Amino acid sequence: MLKLIDVDKFVQSRFKKTFILKGIDLEVKEGEFMTIMGPSGAGKSTLLNIIGLLDPPSAGEYYLRDQPVHKLRERQRSELQKHTIGYVFQAYHLIDELTVFENIETPLLYQNIKGKERKARVAELLDRFQMVAKKDLFPEQLSGGQQQLVG
Ligand SMILES: Nc1ncnc2c1ncn2[C@@H]1O[C@H](COP(=O)(O)OP(=O)(O)OP(=O)(O)O)[C@@H](O)[C@H]1O
Ligand SMILES: [Mg+2]
Repeated sequence: MLKLIDVDKFVQSRFKKTFILKGIDLEVKEGEFMTIMGPSGAGKSTLLNIIGLLDPPSAGEYYLRDQPVHKLRERQRSELQKHTIGYVFQAYHLIDELTVFENIETPLLYQNIKGKERKARVAELLDRFQMVAKKDLFPEQLSGGQQQLVG
């Protein structure tokens, strides 16, 4: 389902190139469940940002469902991202001005899902994560774990 071949991520300043990831080969098959472990600063978030199509690799190839992501333009990449990736950020990135309900609804708006289905899907998620009672609260009124659940 996804395959990384010899992926590098580096940051370049005027005089030197610092590698964050080097030569990453990774394959994940449909239905596989994977955990990435490593000490703080090892590059887990950097790798997940590449896999999650939030950030392009500096070098190497990335195929997601046989699509060569490394060859896509930014716009195509973000289209693919919207429809295939679910992502919970390390920092939750909720929208402070929106309620729990509205935060959950926002990505569905971007997917052009119609009002009635949208409300139904949000209600189902709230129910599944036992957050119904919190639906009208704002992120600052939630615990850290609850914010992460909403994310
Ligand atoms: N834009 C950047 N410029 C320079 N170094 C960076 C940049 N982004 C990340 N790094 C470095 O890359 C390394 C990996 O960062 P990353 O956020 O991927 O780590 P992590 O494995 O997710 O760590 P944690 O477990 O603390 O979340 C860190 O040493 C970080 O300082
Ligand atoms: Mg991290």
